Amino acid sequence: KERRLVLAIESSCDETSVAVVEDGNQILSNIVASQVLSHQRFGGVVPEVASRHHVEQIISCLEDALKEANVTVDELSAVAVTEGPGLVGALLIGISAAKAFAFANNLPLIPVNHMAGHIYAARFVEEMTFPLMALLVSGGHTELVYMKADGEFDIIGETRDDAAGEAYDKVGRVLGLRYPSGKEIDEMAHKGQDVYNFPRAMIKEDHFDFSFSGLKSSFINRVHNAEQKGETLSTIDLAASFQASVVEVLVNKTVRACQTYDVKQLIVAGGVAANKGLRETMTQTMKETLPEVNVTFPPLKLCGDNAAMIGSAAFAAINQQQVADMTLNAIPSLVL
Ligand code: KG4
Ligand code: ZN
Repeated sequence: KERRLVLAIESSCDETSVAVVEDGNQILSNIVASQVLSHQRFGGVVPEVASRHHVEQIISCLEDALKEANVTVDELSAVAVTEGPGLVGALLIGISAAKAFAFANNLPLIPVNHMAGHIYAARFVEEMTFPLMALLVSGGHTELVYMKADGEFDIIGETRDDAAGEAYDKVGRVLGLRYPSGKEIDEMAHKGQDVYNFPRAMIKEDHFDFSFSGLKSSFINRVHNAEQKGETLSTIDLAASFQASVVEVLVNKTVRACQTYDVKQLIVAGGVAANKGLRETMTQTMKETLPEVNVTFPPLKLCGDNAAMIGSAAFAAINQQQVADMTLNAIPSLVL
């Protein structure tokens, strides 16, 4: 059987990444050049800075990905690239590189939705079994996605304000942590206790939407009140209380969505899927309530942005003949 190899490119935010993926579920290489240090002093991603870094990094990432995978250009079957959602300037660097590479080597060009990529990162752990539910939690998105089949996405709920990762990063700023602060808050949370009792927004409402801005405001108010009164709060307890609220809402809604839609598998993906508290509580609660549903988290290093996941999602697209031509453009607010 002939190997099907895809070269994948991801540049939607602050990581430049190029990967070579075989058959959608095997990583031959996955080069990720992070720019996070350049954005830290600004407390978030600066779009113009991101674009410039992508320009500087993309060619060497491409060369390294081919070298590490030990494949030649003529062994490739296609070039996949993130077309959105993301920062327009950042996306355009990856798209331009992908177009040039595809055109020069006469390869089909496959556009991939970044959020689909996050879901398909689960294929590096096990095959997807439909129908499935995906909880997508990242810096820009919090969505529950129902999938009846490959490439079919039905968003049944989403955040009405901040994304879960965004809430982590904003709260981290109040605690004086460096951007992005999700990982650090997660580590602090494991040492503290849920004593501050922050709200669990919309947890009892029977839709599948989320809201995290109220939680963020309660957190900020609690810290400011304490400052005014000269009261000292426990940072680890603040982290634990914040995380308990986020995790409880995410788990509660997700379990209910899995019940309602009667799925065979749950995939939890995106940057926040790296959260230890979320992984533990989701796994435990699903085992207790819906033991017949298979719960899959991508490996930790594939939860954040990377090109391997784009390569995996491209296989679903290949099967459905979704090939783009040289007019492919970035779509900053592309939806699933
Ligand atoms: O998917 P991702 O790498 O980029 C986007 O597409 O947004 O997600 C980045 C987000 C950041 O907000 C970061 O703080 C959060 O994921 N994050 C975490 C953890 N690791 C990363 N949030 C909570 N717990 C973690 N362990
Ligand atoms: Zn992402």
